[in-house]
Amino acid sequence: MKKYQLRCEKTGEVIGDFNDWFAMNQTCPDGSNMVTVEYPEPAEKIQNLINNNNSKHKNSLWRYFDFLPLYNRENIISLGEGAIPVNRWEFLEEYARKNFSVNCKVFVYRNDENAGTGTFKDAAATMAASLLKETGIKEYVIASTGNIATAYARYLSLAGVSLSIFIPENAQRTHQAEMGTYGQRIFKVRGDYAKAKKVAAEYAKKHGILISLGNIDPIRVEAKKTMVFEWLRLMEEFPTVYIQALSGGTGPIAIEKGIKEIEDTGLVKQMPRFILSQPHRCNPMALAWEKAKANNFPEGWLHDYPILINPYTKIPTLSTGNPTTYPIIADIVKRSNGEILSFDEDMALDIARLSTYHTTVKVGPAATVAIGGFFESLMKNAIHDDDVVLINVGEGAKRSPEYMTAMNYSTLEVNSVDECPRFDRTVYKKQLWAAVEEKYTTDKVKV
Ligand SMILES: Cc1ncc(COP(=O)(O)O)c(C=O)c1O
Repeated sequence: MKKYQLRCEKTGEVIGDFNDWFAMNQTCPDGSNMVTVEYPEPAEKIQNLINNNNSKHKNSLWRYFDFLPLYNRENIISLGEGAIPVNRWEFLEEYARKNFSVNCKVFVYRNDENAGTGTFKDAAATMAASLLKETGIKEYVIASTGNIATAYARYLSLAGVSLSIFIPENAQRTHQAEMGTYGQRIFKVRGDYAKAKKVAAEYAKKHGILISLGNIDPIRVEAKKTMVFEWLRLMEEFPTVYIQALSGGTGPIAIEKGIKEIEDTGLVKQMPRFILSQPHRCNPMALAWEKAKANNFPEGWLHDYPILINPYTKIPTLSTGNPTTYPIIADIVKRSNGEILSFDEDMALDIARLSTYHTTVKVGPAATVAIGGFFESLMKNAIHDDDVVLINVGEGAKRSPEYMTAMNYSTLEVNSVDECPRFDRTVYKKQLWAAVEEKYTTDKVKV
C-alpha cells in the first residue's frame, strides 16, 4: 500500500488514492460513494504524533500528517487550524449539580479559535485545499448553508482553485460577503438547502467539475477525525458524552472513524454518547429519532424520517431540512446510546449571553444549539454522574456581526452624569439566568 488507500465501504474493493478517486468522479464501481481511507502506519504511532511537540505542524491538525491522505508536506495549505483549546466551563457543571443533582465535568472544544474562518469547518477546508493542490485540481463545486463554503472559499483561494458555491436563499449575508471577498463565485439559489444541493450537483455534472460530497466526503471525515487525536492530547480523560449542533452530521461520522482507526491501541475505551442537537424549526432528525424511540426502534426505523421543505430557522447554518444522512447518523447515535434532540432556538440569545457573561467566549448562533443541547440533555436525564461532557462550540459570534449586536443588553443611553448609576456586573447574572432557569428545571423533566 502507498501512504494511504481508499476502500469502498459497500464492496470492500480497493479504489486507489485520491487521484484515482477523482478520476472515477468520486464513484465506486458499484455506483456507491461511501469510501473509507486506510493507512499502513501502525496505529500505535499516533501516540508519538500526539507527544511530538517538535513537529513543524504542531499548531494544526497536520501534526497527524502520517494519518492524513496527502503524500507531500509541501502541498499543505494551513492557517493553523484544528489545534484549538479545550476549556472547562464550570458554570454549566454548577447548574447540573444544583438543579439536577448531576455531578459531571463539562468542557468545550473551541472551534471559534480556528485561525481560518473561526468555525468547525476550517479543518475540512485545510484538508481539501491541500489535496486539491496535490492532485492538480483547479475547479471545484460546493453546496453549503454557509460555514463550510466560507472556509472552502478562503482555503481554496490559497490553493489557486476556482470554487463555485451554491447557497440557499436564507444564508447569512455576512457569510456571502466574506466568500465574495475571496473572489469565489456565489450562486444564491432561490429555495432551500436541498434545492441548492440539487442545482450544485447539476452544475457539477453539466461541466464535469468535482463536487464536495457533503457529510460523507472522505476529505471532510479524514480532517475531522483528528478531533479524537486532539482530545487524547489535550484532555486528561476522554469524553464520555459529545454534544454537537447537528445539520448533516459529519462530526459524529468522523469521530467514529478516528476512534476505529486507533482501536488497537486501547487509547480510547469506548465511543462517547453522541448527543446531537437541532434547532426546533429545522429538526427533522430529532423528529424521526423521537418517533423511533417512542416506538422502540421498529424495523425500518432508520429510513423513516420527515423532509422539511423550506424550513424557517433563525440559524441558517443548521437548515438541513432533507436529512439524507439520517440512516447513518441515527445508527451511530443508537450504537453510542446517545440522543438526537430539539432545542428551542428562541432561547439562542439567552444561551449566548449567559455563556459570554460567564466565560467571555462569544459563541455563534449554531454553537448556542450545542450548548442548549446540554440543558436539554439534563431535562432528558441523558447526562449522568461522572460523565465527562465535551460540547463542540462550532463557531464564534465574530462571524455574525448582526448576532453580536443582538447579544448586547447593557447599553444605557444618557445625557449627563446624573443618569449614570454606579455599576456592579453581578446584577446581570440573575437577569441572564432567568429564562434558562424557568425552562430547564427538574419540575419539567421529560424522560
Ligand atoms: C458551527 C457549526 N456547528 C455544527 C454544524 C453541524 O455540522 P455537521 O452536522 O455537519 O456535523 C455546522 C454545520 O454547518 C456548523 O457550522
